[in-house]
Amino acid sequence: MPSAVKTAVFPVAGFGTRVLPATKSIPKEMLPVVDKPLIHYAVEQAVEAGVERIVLVTGRNKQAMEDYFDIAYELDRSLAERGKDEIRKSVRDFLLEPGRVSYVRQMEPLGLGHAVWCARNLVDDGPFLVMSPDDLILSDTPSAKQLIDAHGETGGNVVAVMDVPREHTNRYGVLDTDNAEDRLPVVNGLVEKPDPADAPSTLSIIAHYLLMPEVFDELARHERGAGNEIQLTDAMARLIGRQPFHGLRFEGTRFDCGTKEGWLEANIAFALQRPDLSDKVAAVVRKYS
Ligand code: G1P
Repeated sequence: MPSAVKTAVFPVAGFGTRVLPATKSIPKEMLPVVDKPLIHYAVEQAVEAGVERIVLVTGRNKQAMEDYFDIAYELDRSLAERGKDEIRKSVRDFLLEPGRVSYVRQMEPLGLGHAVWCARNLVDDGPFLVMSPDDLILSDTPSAKQLIDAHGETGGNVVAVMDVPREHTNRYGVLDTDNAEDRLPVVNGLVEKPDPADAPSTLSIIAHYLLMPEVFDELARHERGAGNEIQLTDAMARLIGRQPFHGLRFEGTRFDCGTKEGWLEANIAFALQRPDLSDKVAAVVRKYS
């Protein structure tokens, strides 16, 4: 049965401040993990989960992503002429049919909630995914599919969650819940980036969400929250009690590729999973440990 979740929104307008200078002239979503940029993993996972429409919320200096999801004619021709069929396939096979990928600009950096709101006219009136490519998850089942399956069980909104050290709650949206240990904790409340002393739990949101379209009405209020930004967490919090709302303790390991150490770790972990690279990379890791 085709998934009712037809659209995935990727907020990709951020500056990548925490990984400068690498991101001075390339989008952070184009940073490679092994041999594919972060945005490739994110889009691939959504497509594998059955999503038809991809919406990238971009900004200035993000054209590299549009080129990435387009045919590179000169490269294609050169590879064809030299008989490099396998490489040629690797740069073509992930391209989606024209019309499946859309781009909209977030004209001002007003926060994640504002970025998602910018996509409102490109999302149908059903549930949709929001996935930040910074939050890369290594798992047997793509997180997008895990969220869609969880939504099939519970209905309503589902956000990917994991436990973080209490001293880190001020980096995340944090759940208020009575059953934090369950696979699908019921969300009673959400707080964006609480001080560790005030955090209602340590169960924190990873930026992979399955949301009901009503969140757009809440985002349209353009209310500022933590950091004076329009927060997705605040808009989601207003849906609690009106619609089912659950966390999902996803299966897999999450890497925060918006930080240098998270990105480096992701490279090692993903390379060690690759049959063509694992032995060589394991030897390199041993050499430097
Ligand atoms: C965003 C969300 C936050 C979430 C985090 C996960 O924050 O606002 O609720 O926990 O992503 O990475 P950001 O990292 O963009 O500041």
